[in-house]
Amino acid sequence: MAEKTWVRMVTAQTPTNIAVIKYWGKRDETLILPVNDSISVTLDPAHLCTTTTVAVSPSFDQDRMWLNGKEISLSGGRYQNCLREIRARACEVEDKEKGIKIAKKDWEKLHLHVASYNNFPTAAGLASSAAGFACLVFALAKLMNAKEDNSELSAIARQGSGSACRSLFGGFVKWIMGKAEDGSDSLAVQLVDEKHWDELVIIIAVVSSRQKETSSTTGMRDSVETSLLLQHRAKEVVPKRIKQMEEAIKNRDFGSFAQLTCADSNQFHAVCLDTSPPIFYMNDTSHRIISCVEKWNCSAGTPQVAYTFDAGPNAVLIAHNRKAATQLMQKLLFCFPPSSDADLNSYVIGDNSILKDAG
Ligand code: DP6
Repeated sequence: MAEKTWVRMVTAQTPTNIAVIKYWGKRDETLILPVNDSISVTLDPAHLCTTTTVAVSPSFDQDRMWLNGKEISLSGGRYQNCLREIRARACEVEDKEKGIKIAKKDWEKLHLHVASYNNFPTAAGLASSAAGFACLVFALAKLMNAKEDNSELSAIARQGSGSACRSLFGGFVKWIMGKAEDGSDSLAVQLVDEKHWDELVIIIAVVSSRQKETSSTTGMRDSVETSLLLQHRAKEVVPKRIKQMEEAIKNRDFGSFAQLTCADSNQFHAVCLDTSPPIFYMNDTSHRIISCVEKWNCSAGTPQVAYTFDAGPNAVLIAHNRKAATQLMQKLLFCFPPSSDADLNSYVIGDNSILKDAG
């Protein structure tokens, strides 16, 4: 190894993703293996993304991480699992210009510093952990010259947070639940890239940026233990829906896409209500948004907009095209004027987009 003065850094940027067929429930909590397949759309990194810089230096005496400028502990099992898996795949790195040479075996001894920023509220149901762990794993893989492709990396990001595995790709992405006990076949694949259906416009109506009361991890554990609806959903409903959703995406069939997306979001929240104790992620404003979209879709004859809600009250609205998005914004601003007390405080608009490597 070279003398103790150098620092090697890599920066990456990863967008968040929003599930249109939801992941809810694990069959293995440690490896993070889901009870069903899921499908998501990756958002435009300009609006909702994590930027992570990872650094290695012989002068670092421990692994450390800062999230949005505040130091956080890396001792949690999820971080440790990701770090261990990536370190096991590290390869030799040589940077002749800087006089750096790191042998494969050196990675075991070298410590890392990680600085990560979200350009959106953390843990408010906007899938911050998805972008965060995907970005961490992607940046570390670049830093350590790991040779794995994005699907193989997704199986590592999955061990940080299940939904993170889908943020390694742009466009529409499927997380295959897999069958293997060691989780090696539970990984993400890209169904279509972001150009395939680029007329879609995604609008996020931020109902509340407060941190959610029940984390996804705790909520889905309770659902697995207590909800009969979850068992029915995982075995009977989702397998059919996944096939139908893949067809709808392939054919750019917005009517089917919207129907499946809304139905799946509603069933996920029904599972939450069927959980003991029940979990309430949506609030009155969320319900009013659903009614507004349902009425409009019904009066228009064909769906113009799909809605979906994750583990929080914020609405993700997917408009068929720019015209529908403009009309949707008008309707939302009319129903929830910024000066009102409707607590709908901002909108984020973006096209679906692709993972960007800023490394
Ligand atoms: C409702 O991926 O945050 O957003 O695996 O425990 O970290 P952990 O959970 P997480 O759950 C996401 C749940 C969801 C649906 C989805 O993204 O598919």
